[in-house]
Amino acid sequence: MSRFDGQVAIVTGAATGIGYGIAKRLGGEGARILLVDVDGSMGEQSASELAARGVDARLEIGDVGDQATADRAVTRAIDAWGRIDVLVNNAGIGGVNGNIWELSVEEMDRVYRTNLRGVFAFCHAVLPHMIERDYGRVVNIASIAGKEGNPRMVPYSATKAAVIGLTKSVGKELARTGVRVNCVTPAVVQTRILDEFTPEQVQYMVDRIPMGRTGEIDEIAALVAWLASEECSFSTGAVFDISGGRATY
Ligand SMILES: NC(=O)c1ccc[n+]([C@@H]2O[C@H](COP(=O)([O-])OP(=O)(O)OC[C@H]3O[C@@H](n4cnc5c(N)ncnc54)[C@H](O)[C@@H]3O)[C@@H](O)[C@H]2O)c1
Repeated sequence: MSRFDGQVAIVTGAATGIGYGIAKRLGGEGARILLVDVDGSMGEQSASELAARGVDARLEIGDVGDQATADRAVTRAIDAWGRIDVLVNNAGIGGVNGNIWELSVEEMDRVYRTNLRGVFAFCHAVLPHMIERDYGRVVNIASIAGKEGNPRMVPYSATKAAVIGLTKSVGKELARTGVRVNCVTPAVVQTRILDEFTPEQVQYMVDRIPMGRTGEIDEIAALVAWLASEECSFSTGAVFDISGGRATY
């Protein structure tokens, strides 16, 4: 008997990187997975790879910042499997590096759309189903940048701080139900998102990790899998650090 046997998980930004790692982990432990991603070709490839591993996986292509994508994802999951047990809000972008006076308000809007509006839209669409069944696990992928505030990364840091705030609020809203809502705050993990940053910016972030190394996708997926499981029963609205010791709070 695996931890997620019979369960259904929606994972956003699951075509690659941390999201795909989470999808593999949950799928490997029995979950049926709806991958959501704006990148259709990479999404198809990842969905086929999961299927080849024996996972019942489907793909919904769309921008998480669009409420219609979240609504379609819910309909898709319910039509296919009749339930949604887990929502992992993972889709995120890094944004352009620069001091706040060098960045445009349009750049702020662009980062906000994926990093915060997307989390809101998916919670808004999925939570009614979880409340109705009195069971659910939501895991939001925030960032150490949201706790500490990285210079030259205001849109990213600010939207990730907002994901932490959203998690705390929604966790409290649902504390008397069977739905748990938590977030994780990883430090640097080697994925495609780092291509958006300058090498100096990446070095700044890596230098601040006391363990002296970057995190592994599997390490993030292991923590997320626990937060997504029934075993996570007495934690909600909480922020789980996974930063190699950068934030010991
Ligand atoms: N890699 C790190 O160092 C790091 C550290 C802390 C937090 N995070 C967070 O982890 C999450 C995953 O990042 P990653 O490192 O795997 O990045 P990544 O770039 O490798 O993957 C992000 C995925 O999200 C998808 N995506 C982006 N915008 C989208 C949108 N609007 N709608 C739907 N899908 C969209 C991309 O196509 C991609 O598949 C992000 O929220 C990121 O902020 C990453």
